[in-house]
Amino acid sequence: MKWYEDDSLWSDFAPTMFSAARAESAAELVATSPLLDFPSGARVLDLCCGPGLFLAPLAARGFEVTGVDLSGPMLERARSACEKAGADVRLVRADMLTYTAPEAFDVVLNVFTSFGYFDDPDDNLQVLRNAWESLAPDGQLLVDVMGKEVLASWIGRPQVVDLPDGSYVVQRDVVFDSWRRLRTDWTLVRGTSARTASLTSYLYSAAELHDLFVAAGFADVEIFGGFDGSAYDNHSRRLIVRGRKK
Ligand SMILES: C[S@@+](CC[C@H](N)C(=O)[O-])C[C@H]1O[C@@H](n2cnc3c(N)ncnc32)[C@H](O)[C@@H]1O
Repeated sequence: MKWYEDDSLWSDFAPTMFSAARAESAAELVATSPLLDFPSGARVLDLCCGPGLFLAPLAARGFEVTGVDLSGPMLERARSACEKAGADVRLVRADMLTYTAPEAFDVVLNVFTSFGYFDDPDDNLQVLRNAWESLAPDGQLLVDVMGKEVLASWIGRPQVVDLPDGSYVVQRDVVFDSWRRLRTDWTLVRGTSARTASLTSYLYSAAELHDLFVAAGFADVEIFGGFDGSAYDNHSRRLIVRGRKK
């Protein structure tokens, strides 16, 4: 089993990855981000939607929303979150490596470092090609990851995240493969027991992800340092790449 196919990983680390604070910030981003200000009625695909932090807020903005994820338990959480919010969202269980819906969307979103998971670099390019295929003409793809330049400024310092129930998560990042890839080791400590997991993904510089978009057929490729549309620089928290299907 590949690490990303392990449903228990996403579920066990959900309290830190998909915290209430992140849900709030996702709703705030959707309400205010110039990058997420699509025309009313836009057909939006949230690719690797997880428990759906962005889904109900996107639906509330009047978009026609579809969430795709490989994990059944994550989609269950997304379903119940959307139901609770009264949001009408279509959910599909699928692998981003193979999922396409030709010309079905105006926007494809892939957020919170849900890209670069495949060991073969061509497979990651295929995900961008699939997104291109799924976009209607003039549609756009937005990918949001932790940029290589950003990570370089703090790599090596482990982080500890305290959770409301008294447990905590230690996160340690290790770059390898000549700075091509990143392994994030997580340890969840609850009382006297510990649960560990590792996530491995490609690490992209702005130029590398830009060029991957171009290789997948995207035009007008732009780089941002956050959902506020700011420039990508050494103070950025995120690397966001946007490309259009011409
Ligand atoms: C880091 S989480 C991000 C979730 C969501 N985008 C968010 O902002 O909270 C990554 C998600 O990608 C999903 N995933 C991992 N591999 C996948 C694949 N090959 N195809 C589709 N989804 C995948 C996981 O199940 C998980 O829900």
